[in-house]
Amino acid sequence: MQFKTIIEPFRIKTVEPIRQTTREERERLLGEAGYNLFLLRAEDVLIDLLTDSGTGAMSSGQWAGMMLGDESYAGAKSFYKFEAAAQRITNFKHIIPTHQGRAAERILFGSLLKPGDIVANNTHFDTTRANVEYREATALDIPVSEGRDPSRVLPFKGNIDLDALERTLTDHAGHVPLAMITVTNNSGGGQPVSMANIRAASAICRRHGVLFFLDACRFAENAWFIKTREEGYADKTPLEIAQEMFSYADGCTMSAKKDGMANIGGFLALNDDALAEKCRNMLILTEGFPTYGGLAGYDLEAIAVGLEEVLHEDYLQYRIRSVAYLGDILTANGVPIVRPPGGHAIYIDALAMLPHVPQSQYPAWALSLALYLEGGIRSVEIGSVMFGRQPDGSEKPAAMELVRMAFPRRVYTQSHVDYLAEVILYVNGMKESIRGVRMVSAPETLRHFTARMEMVG
Ligand code: F0G
Repeated sequence: MQFKTIIEPFRIKTVEPIRQTTREERERLLGEAGYNLFLLRAEDVLIDLLTDSGTGAMSSGQWAGMMLGDESYAGAKSFYKFEAAAQRITNFKHIIPTHQGRAAERILFGSLLKPGDIVANNTHFDTTRANVEYREATALDIPVSEGRDPSRVLPFKGNIDLDALERTLTDHAGHVPLAMITVTNNSGGGQPVSMANIRAASAICRRHGVLFFLDACRFAENAWFIKTREEGYADKTPLEIAQEMFSYADGCTMSAKKDGMANIGGFLALNDDALAEKCRNMLILTEGFPTYGGLAGYDLEAIAVGLEEVLHEDYLQYRIRSVAYLGDILTANGVPIVRPPGGHAIYIDALAMLPHVPQSQYPAWALSLALYLEGGIRSVEIGSVMFGRQPDGSEKPAAMELVRMAFPRRVYTQSHVDYLAEVILYVNGMKESIRGVRMVSAPETLRHFTARMEMVG
């Protein structure tokens, strides 16, 4: 008998209490936080969907691995386990540990980019973009056009626009040191990228002599989508699919806080010896010796085990299904979301949900505040607060105004998701009363983390 219920493929050994607050408390807390959910204390949040980064629950296997951590400064046993785990999946020659993904980005871009250069990507995530711009280079987003249409249901809306890639490499020959594909496309709704697209992008880059890297944070989720949606992959294992994805690239940046199933860590991996040497020298300058890269030996152990567990089919099936489960309820009840649901998060289309809030009043930010106020849920705006400020200081509305609810790995159960659905449907029922927001103060870069806002009207 094949039962249809997809269960959480784990049982719970340790629990962490979460705290209910009243609406009045949350109203006060929001005011104190300058109407910025990043500035709340986590203990004042009931269900925290701010990010899936570093927020997952580790397994008993990972905790057991941590006890084996070798804290030697150089040549620790834990490093070699970590290196082998990363190489088994990526097959890259050089595995350079970093404290998290953005450090890998900084080191890679610091070694490759000069002012005026261009990096093409399906969509840069915020820190990736910021690290490119920090080198006075341009971060060019070229997703396929359907990737910017939240309501179109297609299997691989995370794909890069291959014509635009070809054009960019031709028109700016000599000024594009590398192109990247982010799997899954986080800023574009967590949408997957097909194997065919990765293969074709790689071929274009090779023809132009341009390095091709994956931003591999959610490589296992992407592999699962390929397995379930792309012809010819149904009988392959997630590991085999991931190996093929990496085989087309010259390297990758990785945040182990996502599909490394760890609370901290990352790596930069690549094949080129000279570039690797340059990167390792930069690593030593700010992160640490190349066999620990800013991590403790026990972190390397946790990541080594996590990289193995993340490719288990029962885990991936549960993971992708629990996000889709929420997506199905919201879609059935008329809440506009990016469809189909992505791998790690549900993205509400705030422009569609709140047509009465002008884009200049940050509708996605306003909606994320309402979800906290009414139900204690923390989400994150992926819209014009995050991406509206241009490097020259001007303001340009983002392509989409999204509220992302990212699912920490192995943390919440189906009843948490049912609660979420209830809160979101309630907020959808009172959406006409949601007002926009205005920015009171903000830093120049990555302003969403610390901006202070106020309600309009
Ligand atoms: N690339 C992508 C696609 C990401 O989603 C992130 C982080 C990074 C790079 C940077 O990695 O945080 O380890 O330095 N994304 C988190 C998020 C923060 O909430 O989506 P990091």
